Amino acid sequence: MTDFANSPLLVTGASGNLGRLAVEELLARGATRIIAGTRDPSKLSDLAAKGVDIRKVDFNDPASLPAAFAGVERLLIVSTDGIGTRVAQQTAAVDAAKAAGVKHIVYTSAPAARPDADAGLNPEHFWTEIAIAASGLDFTILRNHMYAENNLTDLPQAVASGQLFGLIGDRGTSYVTRADAARAAAGALLLAQGKTLEDVTGPAPVTNLERAAITSELTGKPVAVIPLTPADLKAGMVAAGLPEGFAEALLAFQRDAVTGHHGVVTNVVERYSGRKPQAFADFLAANRAALQG
Ligand SMILES: NC(=O)c1ccc[n+]([C@@H]2O[C@H](COP(=O)([O-])OP(=O)(O)OC[C@H]3O[C@@H](n4cnc5c(N)ncnc54)[C@H](OP(=O)(O)O)[C@@H]3O)[C@@H](O)[C@H]2O)c1
Repeated sequence: MTDFANSPLLVTGASGNLGRLAVEELLARGATRIIAGTRDPSKLSDLAAKGVDIRKVDFNDPASLPAAFAGVERLLIVSTDGIGTRVAQQTAAVDAAKAAGVKHIVYTSAPAARPDADAGLNPEHFWTEIAIAASGLDFTILRNHMYAENNLTDLPQAVASGQLFGLIGDRGTSYVTRADAARAAAGALLLAQGKTLEDVTGPAPVTNLERAAITSELTGKPVAVIPLTPADLKAGMVAAGLPEGFAEALLAFQRDAVTGHHGVVTNVVERYSGRKPQAFADFLAANRAALQG
């Protein structure tokens, strides 16, 4: 594979968790013309001190994007957290990239991205993928599977209550750490060519039973899995205070773990980062303190 280490590479959302890690990986791998885009350049002064060109990039301000993307050859679009507005945001970024002469777009998508109305947050990723493909530019769609870090939200609650709620029929989720996903994205920016769509996964699917067992072992506290129907799981989330729309989005992810969409395992992390993805149990052990709530 060709190495684009000396090409102008721009990472959007560079002050976010994944974006920052991707820029740091590009630095570590010797990229010489890194551009970090963010809505708030003041957050990236440490990267500027390392020779990174910092530019203001806000997809909500399309008029600013031609200048932001000028001279860029390869672009990593980190999907935004603007749920409900992401198709417009990210399509504006794709249009501006094409107009600016960008040759290759890398995009952080989601597993089983599809237009289905009941697919939670997936339609926004699907329509962004379509916009990227329709641009005619080369691209690498990286369908990042569920972050291992998501477990640091629900497992502490399970430790406290002794109960882990999930859907009947769960077939597992191939959690990938944010750091591994970021290293893969940086690697794709450095190496990928042509038009590809790939799943970025951890090394193995982990079921709710396995999550509970590992958590119990690490904390010394019993955690029982309570398998529920979708309606009961959603009702429980709403009763616990989650807004209905957010509960529905979380439920959609869990349904995809029942159908098997989240159990896919690929070698994409290793191929683009040169490192094996961190195993789920090792990730949790490294974050044992956070499990105690
Ligand atoms: N796979 C999973 O389990 C999972 C979980 C949560 C989220 N995600 C997705 O993965 C993305 C990256 O994750 P993360 O942990 O790094 O999220 P994060 O830290 O919450 O970052 C949010 C990102 O959105 C960017 N952003 C927001 N509004 C923007 C705008 N108007 N124009 C351009 N960029 C904008 C931010 O960039 P600046 O602040 O630098 O401008 C930042 O990079 C998320 O945004 C979300 O789409 C995936």
